[in-house]
Amino acid sequence: MNALSIKNLEKTYAGGTRALDGVSLEMPPGDFFALLGPNGAGKTTLIGIVTGLVNKSAGEVEVFGANIDREPEQARTYIGVVPQNLNINIFEKVIDIVVNQAGYYGVPRSRALPRAEKILADLNLYEKRYEPAQRLSGGMQRRLMIARALIHEPRFLILDEPTAGVDVELRRSMWGYLTGLTQQGITILLTTHYLEEAERLAKHVAIINKGSIVAQGSMEEILALHDESAHTGKLRGGRLEEVFLQLTQS
Ligand SMILES: Nc1ncnc2c1ncn2[C@@H]1O[C@H](COP(=O)(O)OP(=O)(O)OP(=O)(O)O)[C@@H](O)[C@H]1O
Ligand SMILES: [Mg+2]
Repeated sequence: MNALSIKNLEKTYAGGTRALDGVSLEMPPGDFFALLGPNGAGKTTLIGIVTGLVNKSAGEVEVFGANIDREPEQARTYIGVVPQNLNINIFEKVIDIVVNQAGYYGVPRSRALPRAEKILADLNLYEKRYEPAQRLSGGMQRRLMIARALIHEPRFLILDEPTAGVDVELRRSMWGYLTGLTQQGITILLTTHYLEEAERLAKHVAIINKGSIVAQGSMEEILALHDESAHTGKLRGGRLEEVFLQLTQS
């Protein structure tokens, strides 16, 4: 059974924007999967549909076998999500933000509290646990969103640009943290505009452009698409960046 199975997913927003134009992808359990694409490609829309925040126009989505239309609650409990935009109540205390989230999943407070303390310690936020979130830096608030996403012990963690605006050192420590989660068996779907980050972390990649998947496969397969002869620019990035640009410049 796949962690995520998406078939022919379509989304047209009210107003007519065609955000997803028949997307299919599959993620095995335990995978570290990078969904890459330029601004407006449809990444956040896809994540919104998988997490139940956005209604799809057509297609099928299953999360660990739970169909999001027929078993939405089941699908939801499997997923922890770190959204692209900050959506925490900045007046609430750090510990409460994490523990209250557990309540939405029926985790009793007595179990959520020690678990929240452990996760906050792992994410270097333990000292800040009684502070209102507004006193955290931007990078700390991102980590808080990761802590909140993990409190109900999801099998599947979805992160929409978790390292945007995060400094180099913290980014590296986040990579280590996420890799540790996959070693515990948690499946990860990540979007990022830092292609070097994807190249380091991901086992599988899909590149989406204008609502369609333009390449999908293992990192090795995607890197092998690199066409040396097509390179014209003077500034060279990594190989993944070259492939990305070749596939999305249209
Ligand atoms: N709520 C909405 N209503 C109407 N159109 C929307 C809405 N959300 C997104 N769109 C449009 O859908 C398309 C895909 O947007 P989406 O946010 O999924 O892109 P993205 O790949 O996440 O981009 P980015 O890398 O900038 O975050 C864009 O054209 C966007 O303007
Ligand atoms: Mg987005």
